[in-house]
Amino acid sequence: MSRPEPLVDGHGRRIADVRISVTDRCNFRCQYCMPADGLPWLERDQVLSFEEIARLVGVLARIGVHDVRLTGGEPLVRRDFPRLAAMLAAIDEVRDLSLTTNGYLLERDAGALVAAGIDRFNVSVDSLQRDRFFEMTRRDALPQVLRGLEVLAGFPEAHPIKVNAVGLRGFTEDEVLPFARFAREHPYEVRFIEFMPLDADRAWDLAKVLTGEEIRAAIHAVHPLEPAPREPGATARVYHFADGRGKIGFINPVSDPFCADCDRIRLTAEGKLRTCLFSLHETDLRAPLRAGADDAELERLIRTAVWRKELKHRVNEPGFRRPARTMSQIGG
Ligand code: 5AD
Ligand code: SF4
Repeated sequence: MSRPEPLVDGHGRRIADVRISVTDRCNFRCQYCMPADGLPWLERDQVLSFEEIARLVGVLARIGVHDVRLTGGEPLVRRDFPRLAAMLAAIDEVRDLSLTTNGYLLERDAGALVAAGIDRFNVSVDSLQRDRFFEMTRRDALPQVLRGLEVLAGFPEAHPIKVNAVGLRGFTEDEVLPFARFAREHPYEVRFIEFMPLDADRAWDLAKVLTGEEIRAAIHAVHPLEPAPREPGATARVYHFADGRGKIGFINPVSDPFCADCDRIRLTAEGKLRTCLFSLHETDLRAPLRAGADDAELERLIRTAVWRKELKHRVNEPGFRRPARTMSQIGG
């Protein structure tokens, strides 16, 4: 069989990474993502089955989308999730299989996930103080999450482990130095992510974004940092502590967008292909999939959608329009 044409967008970017939301449900209610009462969840038959997800990943992987990240909602609340991970890990062209989780179920699942073939883990932790963690996630779950992280860290294959914290002005300032210490004392790379306008409560405004640069400067003043070389397509700017103890990263989508070399697309839990976190338009793959489309037809639909991938997001521009979906309905 001849080598298939790689998947490229109309701006010449090669697409190599897909983020797949396996459920819109979540056991947390983070302030920057979900409302306190949750959201109307999708019905079960609206959500792609494991077989449907594996089929789409197969089509994508064969046209060069070799990196697959599984997200939610919270992926581990989907029943039998490690079975899906194993199905995707078994696809030859999938080279890197990663997971973003809130960590609540990691104590239970870490072993099964590593055994299933997940290569890399990102765990979201927004505070290292129990009461503040509760305030942010609306769940008193910090000890449970930290236990999960420890169980995961016990598997050499699970490393490097990333811990992600959203940077919110008025909240995260007090977390910065404790997280720096945490990154120095544990085998985790801590990364701060700027708050994006994808919260259900629509409370986002630019003034609430604690920028990566502000956080970096605050850490550098106490624990000097040295930049690590930037990898193409990487979302994080990574720094080493100058004394060699650990790393810390900054994902700055608001203050320093990295759209120019974006290589990502997203698939929602109900099978909509999104070419940008902030897309206002999406392409349904579930209907054709369920109507019996063959791989060539699915590939054509994907190529057409990707060709129109947005040049960049316009969060900082006047007239910016938010997508109707929240982060939990897209997949982070
Ligand atoms: N802005 C930035 N990051 C967010 N996340 C969820 N909502 C937002 C937002 N509004 C992050 C979570 C997690 C990942 C899935 O997305 O903290 O790390
Ligand atoms: Fe759940 Fe993640 Fe959204 Fe928090 S950010 S409510 S853990 S999906």
